[in-house]
Amino acid sequence: MRKLLVLISLVFSVSVSVSFTGNRPATADLRKQYSRPPDKWPAPFVAPGVKWKELGELPLSPLLLHSDSLKHLIELGKTLFFDPRLSSSEKISCATCHQPELSWTDGKERSIGHAGAINKRNSPTIQNSWFYQKLFWDGRARDLEDQAFAPINSESEMHGDMRELPRNLRKIKGYIALFDSAFDDPGIDPDRIATAIATFERTVISPRTKFDEFVSGKRNILTNAELRGLHLFRTKAKCMNCHNGPLFTDNQFHNNGFHLNGNAENDKGLYNVSHKEEDLGKFKTPSLRDVMKTGPWMHNGMMTHINDIIVHYNKTSPRPGRTTTEMLYLSNKEMADLISFLHTISASPPAFKRPVLPE
Ligand code: HEC
Ligand code: HEC
Repeated sequence: MRKLLVLISLVFSVSVSVSFTGNRPATADLRKQYSRPPDKWPAPFVAPGVKWKELGELPLSPLLLHSDSLKHLIELGKTLFFDPRLSSSEKISCATCHQPELSWTDGKERSIGHAGAINKRNSPTIQNSWFYQKLFWDGRARDLEDQAFAPINSESEMHGDMRELPRNLRKIKGYIALFDSAFDDPGIDPDRIATAIATFERTVISPRTKFDEFVSGKRNILTNAELRGLHLFRTKAKCMNCHNGPLFTDNQFHNNGFHLNGNAENDKGLYNVSHKEEDLGKFKTPSLRDVMKTGPWMHNGMMTHINDIIVHYNKTSPRPGRTTTEMLYLSNKEMADLISFLHTISASPPAFKRPVLPE
C-alpha cells in the first residue's frame, strides 16, 4: 500500500512537472518572438484579402507638429468646446458628452442632450479622431469641420443654430479678441467656429500606455497573461481583422450584429448614409485605445461588461465584408488573457486644465 502511494505521488509529481515545463517554454517562446520589432512578430490570423497594418506605438497627430504656429487657433477651439453658451439652453457644451476626465466620453450608454433628450447612440471618445477618414458611428461626416456643425444644430444634443451662433458670440467681448488672435481678424462666422473646434480636436490624442512601453523596447513590462492576450488578439481571436494598426482600427465599417438586439430601435448604421443593402447594420470600427475607460461600449452602448463582449465575439466572430460568422473556441483562460491585454492598451486620463471662459 505504501509503495502504491509513493508510486501514485511520484506519477502525480511527474505529470505536474511535465505540465509546468510544458507551459513555461510556450510563454518563454512567445516572449522571445515578441521581443523582436513588430514587423517580425508572428503572422496574424487575418482573412484573405483583408488589408491590415501591424499594431504599434501611439502615433502623434500630424497637427501637433505645427501646434506652436496654431497656438491661438487651438486655444480658441478648446474654449468653444467647453463653452455651454454654444447651446440654446446655455447648459450643454461639447464637453458635456466628451469629458476629458472620462477619456473624452460621457460614461453613459447613450448620451443625454438638450432638455434631457436621450440620443440613440453612445458618445465615442474624440481621442485620435484626427485619424478617421469618416466621422460618426455611421460615417456621415467627412471631416471634423463638417462634424462640428451637427451637435450644435442637433435638436437632441445642443439644440442650437450654427447660423445664429456668430451673432451670439459677438456679444461676448472676450471672443472677439480670441477670434482676432486666431485668424488675424475679429470676424466670427460658422466656418471659423468649426475650423477652431476641429483644430483643437486634432490635438486630442490618447495617453501612452503600457503596450507602447512594450513596443518601444521594455520587453519585460507585459506579464505572461498580457503577452498571451496580445498573441491571441493577433491570432486565434482574429481581432486583427478589423482592429489593426497603431490605433487598433482599420477605418472601415462592419456589421457585428450589435444593432439587432440593441435597446434603441434597430439602427441601420452605414446604410442610412450609403443606402446600399450590403451596408445594413455596419458601424465604424472604433479604436481600442483606452477601451477599458470608454465603456459602455458599441454604437448603442448596449455592452456594459467587457466579458460579455468577448463572449459575444467568441460565439459569433464577425468576418470582414461578410455576413457569416464563426466560433473562435477560446477557453475561459484565453478570454481572460485577452481582457488582460485590453488593459495594457488603456491608460488613465492625464490631468486636464479646462479653459477659462471669456466674458
Ligand atoms: C448630448 C451629447 C453630445 C454633445 C453635446 C456633443 N456630442 Fe459629440 N457625439 C455624441 C454622440 C452620441 C456621438 C455619436 C453620434 C453618432 O455617431 O451618430 C458623437 C460623436 C462625435 C464625434 C465623432 C467621433 C467619431 O469617432 O466618429 C466627434 C468628433 C464629436 N462628437 C465632437 C463633438 C463636438 C465638437 C461637440 C460640440 C460642438 C459635440 N461633439 C457635442 C454626443 C455628443
Ligand atoms: C469584422 C471586424 C471586427 C472584428 C473581427 C472585431 N471587431 Fe471589435 N468592433 C468592430 C466594430 C465595427 C465595432 C463597433 C460595432 C458597433 O458599435 O456595433 C467593434 C467594437 C468593439 C468594441 C467596443 C469598442 C467601443 O468603443 O465601443 C470592443 C471592446 C471590441 N470591438 C473588441 C474586439 C475584440 C477583442 C476582438 C477580437 C476578439 C474584435 N473586437 C474583433 C469590428 C470588429
